[in-house]
Parts: sequence; C-alpha cells; structure tokens
Amino acid sequence: MSRTPIIAGNWKMHLDHLEAIQLVQNLAYHLERADYEASELVVCPSFTSLRSIQTLIEGDRLELRLGAQDCHWEADGAFTGAVSVGMLARLKVAYVLCGHSERRQLFGETDEITNRKVRAVLAADLSPILCVGETLEQREADRAGEVVLAQLRGSLADIGADALERMVVAYEPVWAIGTGRTATPADADEMCGVVRRTIAEDFGEPVADGLRVLYGGSVKPGNVAELMRRSEIDGALVGGASLDPEDFAVICRWHRL
Ligand code: 13P
Repeated sequence: MSRTPIIAGNWKMHLDHLEAIQLVQNLAYHLERADYEASELVVCPSFTSLRSIQTLIEGDRLELRLGAQDCHWEADGAFTGAVSVGMLARLKVAYVLCGHSERRQLFGETDEITNRKVRAVLAADLSPILCVGETLEQREADRAGEVVLAQLRGSLADIGADALERMVVAYEPVWAIGTGRTATPADADEMCGVVRRTIAEDFGEPVADGLRVLYGGSVKPGNVAELMRRSEIDGALVGGASLDPEDFAVICRWHRL
C-alpha cells in the first residue's frame, strides 16, 4: 500500500508567535508545489502561536497542516494550564503529538495518560502522532523492541481498529533526540517495522498497512533522504532542524535529494 509521507516539525518550547510567523513565511518561500505533493507538511508550534499560524496558513492559502504538541484528555473543566482537543480542533489543528519522550521523561506522563490523550484526539476526529522510543540504557540492554512494544500496547489500550485509521506513530529513540546521534537508517527501519508488526498483530494487517510510521531523532538535511528511502519509514518528526527554515525546507524536499 502506498502511504503519503509526513514531514512534521516539532518546534518544542521555541519561538514566540511573531518568530513563528516569520519562520513559516520564510519556509513557504522555499517550498514548491512538488514538495506539498510529495508529503504532508506539518508544523507543530507552541500553543501561543497556533492561532497566528492558523491565520497565516488560511490567509496565504498555504498547504501546510497544523499540529499541536500536547493536549488534555478532558473536554473542559478545572485543569489549570491545560488545553483541550476541542480548543485545538477550533484552530483547525489536524495532528496532536501524544506521549512525546519529553512529556514522558520531564512531565511524568505514563502510557495510561498517553492512552487517554490518544483516545481524546481520535474521538475529536483529529490524528494523534503517538511517540514511542527507548532510552540508551534500554537499547544497550537489548530491550528496544520490548520497550516500544509495551509503549504501543499501553498507549493504544481499549481503542478499536477502525479508530486507528487516522493514527500516526513516531519512533523516536530517546538517545537520538537533540544529540546529533541519529539511529542508522537500518536500525530506524527495523524499529519502524517492529511498530508496524505490533499494530498488525493487535489490529490487523489492513490497519498496519495504512499506518504511517515516522522516524524522529536528529533528522537533518544530510540524513533525511537515506532515512526516507527505507520501506518502513513513512516520514520524519523533526526537532532542532525544523527551527531553521532553510534546513527544514531541504528536509521537506527529501524527494528531490
Ligand atoms: P531533534 O530533531 O532535535 O533530535 O528532535 C527530535 C524530536 O524530539 C522531535 O519530536
């Protein structure tokens, strides 16, 4: 089955809304029709920039899609500081990152919390980008496959196969995030294959065939093409390099490299 690749930029806690506007304008200047046709191009700004970027995308008719970096699972209520999926949907957000390793490690988010978020995102007809990935210690102990499998099963508990049509998974080994150390294309491909096989076992082949599995962790202009050539890798979730419009544009042009 042919799957439309996704190139998504996760800006993390960088850029105020004015800087975010400037980055998107600059990025759009570098992109051509063929780039939008080759992949879905997504930017995930911080909450305070979402409205500005939504307005820019609509005003300039850009074909960029909007993603959010997190959400709360409840529709509303006394959850100071939290943002609901409904609020994101009103801003035409299409994708929501769930269970990013920084949320897991720095904010104590468990598979159970991630599962609630994934379910809330799916219930609102948005697409979760569920992030999974092992630490260096786990990889060195030869436990990468087992860890990723447990994260997937925990985060996807009580979800029906039909709801998973819109799901995206990002395999992001923790040791490769922001370190300049990328998984080798072969290792990344193998782990994305583990993700797909687990989904096939639990939800059936058709769901697994349609599932887009992204790789994330020090994706740069110099390594994106080789990663994208691998059959199990359907795209990239890019941190640092997505903050530089020229670098991110080159990554979005992977199909021409
Ligand atoms: P880097 O590309 O900076 O390694 O970040 C990856 C990431 O965490 C994307 O979500």
